[in-house]
Amino acid sequence: MLITFEGIDFCGKSTQVELLKTYLLEQNKNVHLIREPGGTELSEKVREILLDKKNNSMVMETEIFLFSASRAQLVREVIRPYLEKGFYVISDRFHDSSTAYQGYGRGLPVDVIMSINSLAIGETIPDITFFIDIPIEVSARRKSKKTHDDLDRIEISDNSFFERVRNGYLQIAKSEKRYRVLDGTQSIDIVSNQIRNEIKKFESDK
Ligand code: TYD
Repeated sequence: MLITFEGIDFCGKSTQVELLKTYLLEQNKNVHLIREPGGTELSEKVREILLDKKNNSMVMETEIFLFSASRAQLVREVIRPYLEKGFYVISDRFHDSSTAYQGYGRGLPVDVIMSINSLAIGETIPDITFFIDIPIEVSARRKSKKTHDDLDRIEISDNSFFERVRNGYLQIAKSEKRYRVLDGTQSIDIVSNQIRNEIKKFESDK
């Protein structure tokens, strides 16, 4: 099963990814965790280029191809082999991040992004995608606790960018049955229970 987590920066998704991993391991499942961009030797090199603030001349067309290049490699080198071995693969971000950030956020045509995504991932479409939704003010408040040095090239974007990204996710959620929208302003325990219940429901419906 391929499970992906999505959300705007500082939505708390990485905490939930770890909690789900722990839960599945307790159930004696085989789990492999990845985060995007990255996850292979080549993809980690691409990650460095993408997140380095020094690369402030990067145009959005380059950005989408780099994220997609990193993903294409990850899908074939890591995700598919683990799925074939029967693992639960959990990915902290996947192709919807490109639709939301480079499409809705940056303003590249969403239909073009979807074609690029399709080339990058092929048939490897997530079974469930958890979108941890928080208002922009909550993200901005959490971000303000960080210093500029702690923030990467994308995180330094302004609130209006993240507002478009969030609306993009909500738009994707409307058209994708695999989406589960969770209120990320709830406590960590509540969100984590909701995630477990969704996984249980998915498995009993299979
Ligand atoms: P990361 O440090 O992994 O952040 P997070 O914990 O929020 O996932 O950095 C990934 C950044 O790259 C994040 O700001 C979202 C952005 N991103 C895109 O713009 N497009 C993409 O396709 C992906 C995967 C990430």
